Amino acid sequence: PNNVGILAMDIYFPPTCVQQEALEAHDGVSKGKYTIGLGQDCMAFCTEVEDVISMSMTVVSSLLEKYNIDPKKIGRLEVGSETVIDKSKSIKTFLMQVFEDSGNTDIEGVDSTNACYGGTAALFNCVNWVESSSWDGRYGLVVYAEGPARPTGGAAAIAMLVGPDAPIAFESKLRGSHMSHAYDFYKPNLASEYPVVDGKLSQTCYLMALDSCYRLFCEKYEKLEGRQFSMSDSDYFVFHSPYNKLVQKSFGRLYFNDFLRNPSFVDETSRQTLAPYASLSGDESYQSRDLEKANQQAAKHTYEEKVQPSTLIPKQVGNMYTASLYAAFISLLHNKHDSLVGKRVVMFSYGSGLTSTMFSFRLQQGQHPFNLSNIVTVLNVSDKLKQRVELTPEKFVENTKIMEHHYGGKDFVTGQDCNYLLPGRFYLTKVDSLYRRFYAKK
Ligand code: ACO
Repeated sequence: PNNVGILAMDIYFPPTCVQQEALEAHDGVSKGKYTIGLGQDCMAFCTEVEDVISMSMTVVSSLLEKYNIDPKKIGRLEVGSETVIDKSKSIKTFLMQVFEDSGNTDIEGVDSTNACYGGTAALFNCVNWVESSSWDGRYGLVVYAEGPARPTGGAAAIAMLVGPDAPIAFESKLRGSHMSHAYDFYKPNLASEYPVVDGKLSQTCYLMALDSCYRLFCEKYEKLEGRQFSMSDSDYFVFHSPYNKLVQKSFGRLYFNDFLRNPSFVDETSRQTLAPYASLSGDESYQSRDLEKANQQAAKHTYEEKVQPSTLIPKQVGNMYTASLYAAFISLLHNKHDSLVGKRVVMFSYGSGLTSTMFSFRLQQGQHPFNLSNIVTVLNVSDKLKQRVELTPEKFVENTKIMEHHYGGKDFVTGQDCNYLLPGRFYLTKVDSLYRRFYAKK
């Protein structure tokens, strides 16, 4: 099969959200800390009737319906999630309920988990399957789903159909990975949904992984194309986005990499701005606040062009963990839909602990229903953002308490307060005395 990649996509995020500006006032932090300091506008969160399973069921059934896909045509279903609901039973098995009516039980794949990287692992599994000798001609389906967790929270689910002749095709030879052992963000307390985080270390790990992946990506490109890769060879760069400020820093860091690799890759003004930092050691360069500022300044106009179009949903929804990178990519489709044919997009996936890969897509128009313009219509990002209900920080905190109380719990029915949910959404109705979870469709 040729041009294996993403044929179709859909995104779902909860209808309830809270403004970051309101949270700043409520939390008593200085004005601008979340909106400018972290670069976030708004945060989506689940109420007690929604979780990763209900959101995944919603997005999978919506994708099958909107692209008119026969459920029997799915041969592999992979889930990437950072939110573990059960230490043994996969989220994938819950999703088999969506396929019950079709009678299709012949669907390979389970869950992939490692912080925010599980989604990328799941996507690679599907792509590799379609490219392998065990492929039976059916589609792969990848699902990302995340529930909420502060401080930089967010919640969403994304479904993507994988197959040949895709409008969003992998450049399979261009992949650079960096994997190592780190304690930057982890969840050792199985009774809690909250992580242990070393915020500063997690930023440094992210940037180190980015440098390493970019170096490998460039090496592979050079081997293949016989010339050096520079940022001008890609139209867009899309990053895993725990919060927007880190994306700004990351792009600045890539710019610095290009400057070090070949000063002629950047303009004269940037060369002057960055020259004082050229001799810093790796460690020094991660610690230097001045360098960070210089990078962001030098890269600013290129950021507007190559990164800004992908920042909408992550800024509006918050950290969607495994879904974050793909929500950023969806923002790019949404913002640039009529000018993407022939364009290259470089993607950077990062999951703490740590695992990371840089890879790239080449975009083409595709054939209905699997064409870029139809994908953008189905995604319908503007309406989905507009339809949300803004709640107060007090309501958000009250809701968080209920969620904490229910976390890992049994023998409860949810409030049945589904007022915020649109018809067709799945929701959690109860968890019985044996911890079995029950869902219904509104
Ligand atoms: N106006 C404007 N900017 C402000 C204001 C203000 N009033 N107050 C603070 N800032 C700026 C700071 O200068 C800082 O900017 P900088 O990053 O350019 O230095 C930024 O806001 C953040 O301020 P901090 O004091 O560093 O905030 P905090 O101590 O809360 O730490 C962090 C932020 C580390 C992101 C924390 O929220 C965290 O641990 N998040 C989870 C971990 C994470 O997401 N890591 C990313 C990779 S791992 C992953 O994806 C899970």
